[in-house]
Amino acid sequence: MPAFFVTATGTDIGKTYVTAGLVRACRRKNRAVTALKPVVSGFDPLSPESSDPYALMEALDLPVTALDRISPWRFAAPLSPDMAAARENRSLDMTDVEGFCREAIATRETVFIEGVGGVMVPLTESDTVLDWMASLRLPLLLVTGSYLGTISHTLTALDVVVRRDLQVACIIVNESDDSTVPLQETAESIARFSAGITVATLPRRAKDADFDSLLGVIL
Ligand SMILES: Nc1ncnc2c1ncn2[C@@H]1O[C@H](COP(=O)(O)OP(=O)(O)OP(=O)(O)O)[C@@H](O)[C@H]1O
Ligand SMILES: [Mg+2]
Repeated sequence: MPAFFVTATGTDIGKTYVTAGLVRACRRKNRAVTALKPVVSGFDPLSPESSDPYALMEALDLPVTALDRISPWRFAAPLSPDMAAARENRSLDMTDVEGFCREAIATRETVFIEGVGGVMVPLTESDTVLDWMASLRLPLLLVTGSYLGTISHTLTALDVVVRRDLQVACIIVNESDDSTVPLQETAESIARFSAGITVATLPRRAKDADFDSLLGVIL
């Protein structure tokens, strides 16, 4: 402990980038840390280097043989996990996924669990990431972008998780590529509409010091 679930307003927003950076920041502080990406789709075993599990294993300084420990449920198709699993005549058993997460949470390490895409990506016929988060009840790190339109996406995601009684430890506004909107102004606007929730920013090509201060904000 502590443990966090890392979610986002959508895919490619920066969950892995933020998680890997926070893992490195923990390691710089000699803090025992683990990071999991339990469910991953679009995973190509022939070129795994570009995958989320590898990014996390690199940050954790783990060998490639740790893949099953970090990401046991891997699917090839770059689709939502329910669709990707169906392509392989498989399906996710959410009880197993939740049990796997609970084992990690029970350790004394700082744990980051990266979700999939945004807050309501389907995982099975009846469960989305939201149900997964609701069952674990971990504080959330909600990663959002700074592109035009992000404020509405962020507040929509926030409303959905708050309605399920989930606690948001921090909204992390991760600067989008070619953003036309100032990062700080976006964060201030989000903060105005999400009273009581910490809002942090992360610039493009964030430095160690940026991740160090982000870690200080969430811990
Ligand atoms: N602040 C940043 N500065 C530079 N590059 C970034 C930043 N944030 C994200 N990226 C890059 O943007 C891409 C998408 O980010 P990332 O893979 O972390 O998204 P994600 O939310 O984890 O996506 P997925 O839903 O596929 O898991 C990656 O190539 C990542 O390195
Ligand atoms: Mg990712």
